[in-house]
Amino acid sequence: MIKVDVSNVISEVEIEKYQSKVTEINKMIDDRSGAGNDYLGWTTWPKDYDKEELVRLLKDAKYVRENFDVLVVAGIGGSYLGAKCALDALKGLKGSDKPEIIFMGQTFSPNYTHQVLEYLKDKNFAINVISKSGTTTETSIAFRLLKDLLEKKVGKEKARKAIYAVTDKEKGALKTLCNNEGYSTYVLPGNIGGRYSVLTPVGLFPLAVAGVDVKAMLQGSLDALNDLDNDDLKTNIAYRYAVSRDYMYRHHRPVEMFVTYEPQMSQLSEWLKQLFGESEGKEKKGLLPTSATFSTDLHSLGQFIQDGSPLLFETIVNIVNPELDVVIPSDKDDLDGLNYLAGKTLSYVNQNAFKGTLKAHEEDGGVPCNIITVDKLDAYNLGYLFYFFMRTCAMSAYLLDINPFNQPGVEIYKKNMFHLLGKKGY
Ligand code: PA5
Repeated sequence: MIKVDVSNVISEVEIEKYQSKVTEINKMIDDRSGAGNDYLGWTTWPKDYDKEELVRLLKDAKYVRENFDVLVVAGIGGSYLGAKCALDALKGLKGSDKPEIIFMGQTFSPNYTHQVLEYLKDKNFAINVISKSGTTTETSIAFRLLKDLLEKKVGKEKARKAIYAVTDKEKGALKTLCNNEGYSTYVLPGNIGGRYSVLTPVGLFPLAVAGVDVKAMLQGSLDALNDLDNDDLKTNIAYRYAVSRDYMYRHHRPVEMFVTYEPQMSQLSEWLKQLFGESEGKEKKGLLPTSATFSTDLHSLGQFIQDGSPLLFETIVNIVNPELDVVIPSDKDDLDGLNYLAGKTLSYVNQNAFKGTLKAHEEDGGVPCNIITVDKLDAYNLGYLFYFFMRTCAMSAYLLDINPFNQPGVEIYKKNMFHLLGKKGY
């Protein structure tokens, strides 16, 4: 169902040279002995997640689905991007019909926040606050505003039953608040970092509320775990992709452009930018992850990709069979000259745009392209893809001799901001 072709980026001979290093790192991941090893819980999560908690989560999600018009999800970074990506990918850009899912707390924007709060004033809404640390400023401000609005609207008692939290099992200000207020709470395990948490309640609660088949998603990730937890570079698609990335990095292609031809997959690129950027971008090393949605961006970035500085390689996620399609009609006058496409589908046109662009970029532009082919977009395949990319990311970072699971650089802007805002201790 998912195929990975790295042949335009790295040869089999070059892949083979990585085998002993990959064997060593894979053992390190399995033994949990490398840097950041206390954050490797995601590697086996698809088989050892808390089954009882999932039953409770699905029951609560059903209740929210049946009793509210809107679910507002407050979170940022790893506590936001995975759910947003899966919602767009599986429910389309129009979003799920009922309940509507809205995100807040992923920005300080006064305009956006004001607009959402205004919109919610006459809506029957529930809140899903997600924060592992329980202290992230964007999320905390959003939750304070949402809680305040809800309590004023329906009273403290009713609000309590409309608030669902995902946070650490015991640490953090949000956990204390949940304990004091008695909110329904699900656990983001201590040994799973934010950007590796999409398959935990962080992603599963909002997705279940939106009607996504989260069990199929977990099954996809379990199958990925079974397929990819080995060191065989001839067959392990995650590790073949990881070494292709490393090879590009070491051969003067420091930018990886994630490409999709399906706009509802462009949030996958956002999730990937965080996953790889925050995991690898340390110690003055790492590929710069960037993204484009074709054919839209062929009319903007296309020129640079084809003829500009030779900095980048592409990783294209190609969805072969769209769920929906459109047939181009015939026109008796054919003044627009499109009758040669009459009776053809947009997916036929899109796939040919993909093939034509690939040839242009690879052959004429000299841009190496990895191709990840996904037969169709569903919860199972997305669960598989999430695990596949996380496994790739861990291997890639360890190939650079980097801890994939911390983000020390992110703290510096926060310190400056807290100092300017007058937070105690800064
Ligand atoms: O990957 C990470 O760890 C980060 O991107 C976090 O997910 C993000 O900073 C949000 O943190 P928290 O869930 O603690 O609010």
